[in-house]
Amino acid sequence: MTIQDPDFRESGLEFGPDFLIGSATAAYQVEGAAHEDGRGVSIWDTFSHTPGRTINGDTGEIADDHYHRLEADLDLMASMELQAYRFSISWPRIQPNGSGKVNAAGIDFYSRLVDGLLARGIAPIATLYHWDLPQALQDKGGWTNRDTAYRFAEYASIMGDALGDRVHTWTTLNEPWCTAFLGYGSGEHAPGVTNPLAALTSVHHLNLAHGLAITELRRAVGPKAKFSVTLNFSALRGGGHGEEEAMRRIDALSHRAFTGPMLLGAYPQDLLEDTASVTDWAFVQPGDLDQIKQPIDVLGVNYYTTSTVRMGAASAAKRNEDGTEVVIGSRYPGSTRVEFVTESGPFTDMGWNISPDGLEEVLVSLHQQFPDIPLMITENGAAFADVVVDGRVRDGKRVDYLHSHFVAAHRAMQRGVDLRGYLVWSLMDNFEGAFGYSKRCGIVHVDYLSLERTIKDSGHWLTELIRTRRIPGGVR
Ligand code: FCB
Repeated sequence: MTIQDPDFRESGLEFGPDFLIGSATAAYQVEGAAHEDGRGVSIWDTFSHTPGRTINGDTGEIADDHYHRLEADLDLMASMELQAYRFSISWPRIQPNGSGKVNAAGIDFYSRLVDGLLARGIAPIATLYHWDLPQALQDKGGWTNRDTAYRFAEYASIMGDALGDRVHTWTTLNEPWCTAFLGYGSGEHAPGVTNPLAALTSVHHLNLAHGLAITELRRAVGPKAKFSVTLNFSALRGGGHGEEEAMRRIDALSHRAFTGPMLLGAYPQDLLEDTASVTDWAFVQPGDLDQIKQPIDVLGVNYYTTSTVRMGAASAAKRNEDGTEVVIGSRYPGSTRVEFVTESGPFTDMGWNISPDGLEEVLVSLHQQFPDIPLMITENGAAFADVVVDGRVRDGKRVDYLHSHFVAAHRAMQRGVDLRGYLVWSLMDNFEGAFGYSKRCGIVHVDYLSLERTIKDSGHWLTELIRTRRIPGGVR
């Protein structure tokens, strides 16, 4: 079903009571209070304050002011009957300089958040790293510096000791692909570096950070919480010339560069070969792969869209006079010849094509690759240009989007996928990275002048789903 073909009949499809349905946010995108209570500077502060990096020069200085509106936002979540809330912890609130001294006010904020969730019967799902590296660590190389992985482990241990088993599920990293390839490859995200070697070095140090953090969390928390990582997956489609090779290359760089070491204990051989012109991967030290491969209880899946790819002409690659390829900033180091074909619509306001079938495909494929690992959709949702009219936001397109994706998730479960929950991105409209405030992904509308919250029709729709356990009909 697509927004061109709406069908809002009640689907009759049911989810069991243990299937966690809720919503997600991330620290820099909602908290604001960027200079308060001892918070240090993160790479997203620096990046968003750099002219030209974000639309309209938007920053997360105030964002949704969630930091100051914690109690009201918790009540909002309770009124929506969310079963789970996925949030991220701002590392520079905890360790303003990325190492050593702990900022008690930062711990206190997240402790109040977790207790507030528990008091309202909402399961806290905490992400340790949703892209906001302390600037002090970036000044030493950020994720290109192996030491950052050890600093991350120290931070994980602090948070494990502080919040321990009050957290339902601990997630180490959110979308390390974005950190490595958008942060250090194409420069679209903080810290804005454009260097293929830096991107691949960061891949490894992020993987190492994940493994070290899981070890620390398990030590601090014991068996009472679940441990996970969230990766982003797109459904890959062939788009013509050399499509098998193109899909294999993008799957390796986008997905298997992380699932390989984290879940199987090795980098895929084809990834090593595809990237040989950039690096010999000598930054992988003896013992690293054993450390990275830690048992996890659930794999977080972020899904938004499909990618259709083919191989471009070899001559398309820019060449130096001696015939070697020009090193350019890219999301796909070593595979810059892969072309992304323009998708067919419908699209969300992000320009991302809407394809619920892709979600089913991704879930089934992950289940086939890793049959013993339960999955959870940790992000899925859509941006649309919503407006409040007479106190109401009629976001029928988002209702339809969620309807079709929940149906797809249900279909995947019927095909045997062990799916444990579904968290909609996002609870509230927020600072969407390089898009600034220009894209609204929330199921709650935020007026950026008054900061007033208005539950959208999609938010009411989700509440009905949680309450009835059946995927409801749509626009009312
Ligand atoms: C994901 C991010 C999340 C949000 C959505 C739209 O890549 O994890 O923070 O920005 O995209």
